[in-house]
Amino acid sequence: MTDHRSPDARFRTSLLEENDGPATNPTENRTMGEIIAERFSRRAFLKGSLAVSAIAATVSPLALVAADDARAAEGSAFSFEELEAGIDDKHHVAPGYDADVLLRWGDPLFADSPEFDPARQSAEAQARQFGYNNDYVGYIGIDGSAEHGLLVVNHEYTNPHLMFPGIVKIVEKDGKKAAELTPLSKEQVDVEMAAHGGTIVEIRKEGGKWQVVRDGKLNRRITSNTEMALSGPVAGHDRVKTNADPSGTKVIGTFNNCAGGVTPWGTYVMAEENIHGYFSGELPEGHKEAANYKRLGIPEGAYEWGAHYDRFDLAKEPNEPNRFGWIVEVDVNDPTSTPRKRTAMGRFKHEGAESIIAKDGRVVFYLGDDERFEYVYKFVTAGRFDPDDRAANMNLLDDGTLHVAKFAADGTVDWLPIVFGQGPLTPENGFAGQADVLIETRRAADLLGATKMDRPEDIQPNRINGKVYVMLTNNSKRKADQVDAANPRADNAFGHIIEISEDGGDFAGTRGKWEVLLKCGDPAVADVGATFSTATTANGWFGMPDNCAVDSAGRLWVATDGQGPKTTGRTDGLWAVDTEGPARATSKLFFRVPIGAEMCGPLFAPDDQTAFVAVQHPGDGGEDWEAFGRPSYYEDPSTRWPDFKPDMPVRPAVVAITRQGGGKIAI
Ligand code: FEO
Ligand code: CA
Ligand code: CA
Repeated sequence: MTDHRSPDARFRTSLLEENDGPATNPTENRTMGEIIAERFSRRAFLKGSLAVSAIAATVSPLALVAADDARAAEGSAFSFEELEAGIDDKHHVAPGYDADVLLRWGDPLFADSPEFDPARQSAEAQARQFGYNNDYVGYIGIDGSAEHGLLVVNHEYTNPHLMFPGIVKIVEKDGKKAAELTPLSKEQVDVEMAAHGGTIVEIRKEGGKWQVVRDGKLNRRITSNTEMALSGPVAGHDRVKTNADPSGTKVIGTFNNCAGGVTPWGTYVMAEENIHGYFSGELPEGHKEAANYKRLGIPEGAYEWGAHYDRFDLAKEPNEPNRFGWIVEVDVNDPTSTPRKRTAMGRFKHEGAESIIAKDGRVVFYLGDDERFEYVYKFVTAGRFDPDDRAANMNLLDDGTLHVAKFAADGTVDWLPIVFGQGPLTPENGFAGQADVLIETRRAADLLGATKMDRPEDIQPNRINGKVYVMLTNNSKRKADQVDAANPRADNAFGHIIEISEDGGDFAGTRGKWEVLLKCGDPAVADVGATFSTATTANGWFGMPDNCAVDSAGRLWVATDGQGPKTTGRTDGLWAVDTEGPARATSKLFFRVPIGAEMCGPLFAPDDQTAFVAVQHPGDGGEDWEAFGRPSYYEDPSTRWPDFKPDMPVRPAVVAITRQGGGKIAI
């Protein structure tokens, strides 16, 4: 079948997130990221130290203040001693804290799980073990406990070059060495499918340290082979019927589960993000879904699943992609329950689904569509949350109104309802009903005139200060004539964070105010235009905000995706960001990941005494000779984190951070 894969996608499937949207700029102009990258010498990176001196010639007066590490931000909500930024093969946490590995790829989750044997991994073993590339982390207390509960973790995608021995070959190409990936066997594809999805696992804190309860009766793996139900307005529609499922209600599996959420009624929601990479093959000539799929970049074919399973081959099951790109809800209280794809919440490259209860009891979910020039959404349930009747809440996500954000230059934001029959969402524009509107959510949002954003990632409502924080990772494709008030930088290499205040504090409302909390990047480089406070140190600034968390005191913590030797001269990590008073926009480094990794999670336990973080794709770097001096792969990874044993590959893992001697993480 046609190979749609880009050479990079074979190695670094994290690049799927940078897939160009239809509105992107095809020019080859040098990006701000490339210009900045030249300021960081590879030599400094290889020594494992921060390349701050490499930019000394361009240091501005602002940066001279910023570089003074001893200066405390007046009024800061964070008193921990800041960690030094840098790049090496280990994780690091601020002084006075422990960062303990809790769950690694391959760790047994059930009493009968086989021990991890990476050289002989099987799909059967993988389905009973912790999956790959942990992303979202949620916690659901058992009987309200902050020290005993269910940890729910998404496994977003797989990096075959780091998972399987013997599949990377070093070859000569155009007089240069190059790394090539051999096609996967069906057995390896099956391992990949079992390594995707999610994990639900009981954990308990004993003696101040978290332990996995291996025989927890609610422990469960969700994989790309778990049977799910389509529910809500799209269920049973002709456009989701397949040869294998003529009812249009029964889907096999979920994948590319990025961030997510835990609902007020204690279910686990998983966002299906970069679904385009899993489909291959050609649609039949003139097929009616061609434009719909093009809008989502389907098929991209980074994965080889279509070679072995008809449902991923568009020639054989042309409607299958309409059954992915949804929010999936899992009832964690019943390990035999059927997860439900909640179609009322729209179909796009869902990043996350964090929620808050509005004043009138309706529940509001904030949703990002992570691609350049895509949109910010929110879903408002029709029904009200009943704190005394869990069963009454279990189908709240099937009925409600999806809205998309339009940010105006005057600082207001309008939430436009995405409802069939309203405005342009009519038969004249190809929509026969709400099911069509939801299947083609992006096109509906285009017609409504929503604001094209710089890769909307995690969006977090803050119940303490009533604000909503929108992480916008970057957009190197935005041209100078495409900037707007809410996306104010052309060639936005380092991203920004928007703060929304809904009018009247009503999260369910349709109007709010917004402002930019932070433009990210190195404040010492004037061209970058970063807006960290002057109290932010040389370690404290960051680029590429992606995931975030708000602790129970309302403090904001930001995790990043995409930093490294070529972009910011530091690894990804977790930064504490002040949002209130004179310290607003001051940022401080708390934790950093090993080389090649992205920082996911993060999550604070209900008592704020643990920060859970997910280290995703450590050792990634794939084919990237320029940045790493050699490719990083199974036999020769850039790090063997977290085990550092010669016979163990690098392994994505969830880390539990606690204060030495106990107590809240931030005081
Ligand atoms: Fe999977 Fe948009 O991060
Ligand atoms: Ca993300
Ligand atoms: Ca990401």
